[in-house]
Amino acid sequence: MSEPLLLARNLEKSYRMGSQVIRVLRGLDFSLRAGEVVAVTGASGVGKSTLLHILGLLDTPDAGEVFFQGEEMFALPPRLRAARRNRVLGFVFQFYHLIPELTALENVLLPSMIAEGRRRWRRGRRAHRERARRLLAEVGLSERLRHRPAQLSGGERQRVAIARALMNEPAILLCDEPTGNLDPETSEGVTEVLWAVNRAREQAILLATHDPALAARADRVLVMDRGRLREKEPCGGGNDL
Ligand SMILES: Nc1ncnc2c1ncn2[C@@H]1O[C@H](COP(=O)(O)OP(=O)(O)OP(=O)(O)O)[C@@H](O)[C@H]1O
Ligand SMILES: [Mg+2]
Repeated sequence: MSEPLLLARNLEKSYRMGSQVIRVLRGLDFSLRAGEVVAVTGASGVGKSTLLHILGLLDTPDAGEVFFQGEEMFALPPRLRAARRNRVLGFVFQFYHLIPELTALENVLLPSMIAEGRRRWRRGRRAHRERARRLLAEVGLSERLRHRPAQLSGGERQRVAIARALMNEPAILLCDEPTGNLDPETSEGVTEVLWAVNRAREQAILLATHDPALAARADRVLVMDRGRLREKEPCGGGNDL
């Protein structure tokens, strides 16, 4: 078996609020292989977003390790860790987090500008524009390149966010409640886009979700409970979503 793309070992994370300590992750282990789609479910407040933020290198654990392709991320200085984050990860959030002043095309271009810096980016801008257009076409938005977020529907905004997340060819797409703000029909469209993206480039995807229809299509469904993950029983009685 090949080495996992992403491996997390023994993660611990607590939040302190005055005298109260909330232990969110308690010795959590996780692995993700190339091409895999994994859904993390579990009750609200159980720690799904906390986990995604740590695996996404947006936050640090109190203890434990996160390896990308065998390299331990929290052993790296923050500057190098940020560079890995830009290269390895793409993010999709519940509330899109698009920049309101920029068009759809400009929002998708943004990660390439951040990764390359102004000078290098300008030299390759034609190729970047072409790639951003292709990605927007892939998510069905060829006719919306110049629309700003306020001129797009919720589902269209999320599709722009997916195209943006793919701009730097991430090894892993991390999605936190990608359909959490959408009606069922629009959710289905966004779900289709994610699976098309997975099929087209064997994109590894880790998603946290309460959406049963989205989780049902994943290769593996994990349930978060008391600070750890367990495999969901195939036809388990309770609704863990
Ligand atoms: N910055 C913080 N400071 C203090 N407590 C926090 C902080 N962030 C999260 N928590 C607490 O940690 C727990 C886990 O939160 P988290 O957002 O990871 O849950 P979640 O599973 O993503 O929930 P949801 O399904 O509602 O999105 C919650 O009890 C929350 O109140
Ligand atoms: Mg959450």
